[in-house]
Amino acid sequence: MCWFAGYEASVRRDEPLSRHTWYRLGGPARWFCTPPDAETLATLLTRCRERGLPWRVLGQGVNVLVRDAGFDGVVFRLDADAFGRVEFRPPVVWAGAGADFPKLIRRCIDRGLIGLEALAGIPGSVGGIVRMNAGGRWGEIGPLVRSVTVVEPDGTLRTLEREALEFGYRRSNLAGRIVVEVGLELAAGDPAAALERHRRIWEEKYATQPPVSHRTAGCIFRNPPGDSAGRLLDGCGLKGLSCGGARISERHANFIEAADGATADDILRLIDRAREHVRRETGVELELEIEIW
Ligand code: EPU
Repeated sequence: MCWFAGYEASVRRDEPLSRHTWYRLGGPARWFCTPPDAETLATLLTRCRERGLPWRVLGQGVNVLVRDAGFDGVVFRLDADAFGRVEFRPPVVWAGAGADFPKLIRRCIDRGLIGLEALAGIPGSVGGIVRMNAGGRWGEIGPLVRSVTVVEPDGTLRTLEREALEFGYRRSNLAGRIVVEVGLELAAGDPAAALERHRRIWEEKYATQPPVSHRTAGCIFRNPPGDSAGRLLDGCGLKGLSCGGARISERHANFIEAADGATADDILRLIDRAREHVRRETGVELELEIEIW
C-alpha cells in the first residue's frame, strides 16, 4: 500500500521547493503533503515512520536552504485553514503553527496584548518561530510560550506545558516533533505604545539588515559565544564576496543574498568560502544557523 493511500488529495509528487522558500531556490520534494488537520498529519507521520521515509516540516521556508537536488522524502506543510486559526483569550493567544507570525504580532498589538512587538521584523510561521526560538537583541519568543501542542514522531498528539519546554539560543526541544498549535501568554498594555515600539525595532533592524523583500535566509551563521558572526565576516573583508548568483550582503555580512539565476549550490559554495576565510583569519569555526536540506 502506498504510504498516503486514502489521503491522495493531500499529497503532490515532485513539488518544486523553490516555490516555498524565501530563497526561491531548491529542487523538488518527492512528496509534498498538506494535511487538512492535526489528526491526518499524525496518521501520515506514523505511516512515514513505519516505512522509514525521511520527512521534514516546512514553514514559510525562511530559514532553510534546499539543495538543487531537492529532498527525497516527505515535506509536510501546514497551510490548511485548521493550522492558521488564531484565538484570543487574554492574556493568552492560541495560534496554529501555520499562522503568519508578523500578522499575529500586529493583531495582538491591536487588541492590547503586549510582548510580541519585541520580535518585529522577523518573518515566518508561528510553528517555525517557536521551534527555533526566534528572536534577536530585543527578545525571543521562548519566554512567552505557555504551551505547545505537537505531533510526536510516533504519531501521538501531545500538549507540552511550559515546564516541559526548553528554549536556548535559536533552539528548542521541539526539533523532531511537529508543532501544530502554540499558546502565547502576553501582557495587557497600551496598543499605541506597543505599535511605536514595533516601529522603532523594525526600523533599527532594517537599518542594519537587508530588507525582507530580498532573497535571503536571515542570518546564515550562529553567533559564536560572546561575538557576532556578522562582525567577524565583515572584519575579514567579506562583504560583497560572491559565488555565481550568491553574494554576501553589503548591509550585514551574515546575510547571503540570491540574485536572479542563483542556484542553491552557489549559496553552499559561498558559505564554505566564507567559513574558510573566518577560520583562517580568526581561528573561529562558524556554525550554521540555517537548515540545509
Ligand atoms: N557588525 C558589523 N558588520 C556586519 C554586521 C554586524 O560590524 O556586517 C557588528 C555590528 O555593528 C554590531 C555587532 O556586529 O556591533 C552585532 O551586529 P547586530 O546588532 O547586527 O547583531 P548580530 O549579532 O549580527 C543578531 C541576530 C540577528 C538579529 C540581530 C538583531 C544571530 C546570528 N543574529 O545579529 O538574527 O536580527 O541580532 O537582534 O543571532 C537571524 O537570526 O536570522 C538574525 C538575523
